[in-house]
Amino acid sequence: MNEENRDLMDKIISLAKRRGFIFPSSEIYGGFSSSYDYGPLGVELKNNIKRLWWKEMLNYHDNIVGIDSAILMSPKVWQASGHLSAGFADSLVECSKCHHRFREDVVQNNRCPDCGGELMPPRKFNLMMKTFVGPVEDEASITYLRAETCQGIYLNYENVLNSMRLKIPFGIAQIGKSFRNEINPGNFTYRTREFEQMEMQFFVRPEEAEKWFQYWVEQRLNWYINLGIKKENLRIHQQTKDELAHYARAACDIEYKFPFGWKEIEGIHNRGDWDLSNHSRYSGHELVYFDEKTKEKFTPYIIETSAGADRGALVFLIDAYEEVKGGRTQTTEAKKEVEIVLKFHPLVAPIKVAVFPLLKNKEELVNLAKEIYQNLKKHFMAQYDEIDSIGRRYRRQDEIGTPYCVTVDFQSLEDKTVTVRDRDSLKQERVPIDNLTSYLKERVNFE
Ligand code: GAP
Repeated sequence: MNEENRDLMDKIISLAKRRGFIFPSSEIYGGFSSSYDYGPLGVELKNNIKRLWWKEMLNYHDNIVGIDSAILMSPKVWQASGHLSAGFADSLVECSKCHHRFREDVVQNNRCPDCGGELMPPRKFNLMMKTFVGPVEDEASITYLRAETCQGIYLNYENVLNSMRLKIPFGIAQIGKSFRNEINPGNFTYRTREFEQMEMQFFVRPEEAEKWFQYWVEQRLNWYINLGIKKENLRIHQQTKDELAHYARAACDIEYKFPFGWKEIEGIHNRGDWDLSNHSRYSGHELVYFDEKTKEKFTPYIIETSAGADRGALVFLIDAYEEVKGGRTQTTEAKKEVEIVLKFHPLVAPIKVAVFPLLKNKEELVNLAKEIYQNLKKHFMAQYDEIDSIGRRYRRQDEIGTPYCVTVDFQSLEDKTVTVRDRDSLKQERVPIDNLTSYLKERVNFE
């Protein structure tokens, strides 16, 4: 990462903490390596992303249903899935001098990136997070925190198929936490050991797998673009044979141009019959599809879309970040400053509307503004603010990406209208108070 990009990441990390998006975990104990907590605005941002994904899958596509499966499963699941074998292991190298450990693929030559010492020969390191179930910590009580949410979907394939009377092609979606004992977590929330995935498994006839694979690559790329991520910051990377995960026949990564380089944010995989066949074999329970019409019995292929909710939140945050030198509002005080604006798509923005009285010492303005705020907050995430000048209040909202600010002024007392200021165009429109909820609903709601 060059200095300019490092500086940009530092500014985003600092804004994330200062304005309540993302905090380092266990901070009062000196922090805990690569763990993060979402603050009041961060949780709204991530929840919006998850809700938008869920709605996209279940409401805007046919034949997709959702589940929420357990994090702890039989350890046999991870034998069948291949995660306990070499397939889900990174190559780890250790420095002979400082004993720092690295993934082999992140070191350039045979030298330690931290102290320059010689590196020892690589060893395989399995990424599954081990834990014990019950009071006795012995071999028999070992299980693992799930490393991907999709396994819970495969285990419930038959339950969902039968209970929902689904016909192929159909999909099962799930959002939830996954855990991997990453050797080198880093780049803020990009790579962590605990993270959330949004995964959808689409069950298809084998001969239609290629068609659906292409379909989902396009759908998923467009999802980011439709929610405002700049096209030029997104690209598709078709994985080569060497890059494919142990379960995949073909895979495309959606990559984002982070300040630290082009990196994967979502994978679309053709998993073939790997999962259902292996779980059938290991469990002795046949997981197949019977076509009533053609009387055929076959193992469906699976096209998977696998996105990270944390990586998603980071992408939306970085892509929205803009600095305006000299101020956008051209007021005397703004001219001296660098203004920060988070240009979130309104559906993604954590706070949808802020309400201000023009002056805080005019009781009628304050009362009316509070009444409007109380009414709006039943419908949208809203904030009330009466501190400092109006210009400063606008800038505070710009910094957290609030798309609309409502100001109650003296005219409001006479004609029952307010000004609504648009974060991006800076235009102000007078809107009757009675129409305010529907005005905003049209622009920021997705329920
Ligand atoms: N079920 C397939 C699967 O898990 P993956 O490519 O290993 O595929 C899918 O992961 C997505 O999960 C990634 O594109 C990323 O968004 C997210 N992800 C994976 N490992 C992560 C980590 N250590 N930290 C944050 N997100 C991660």
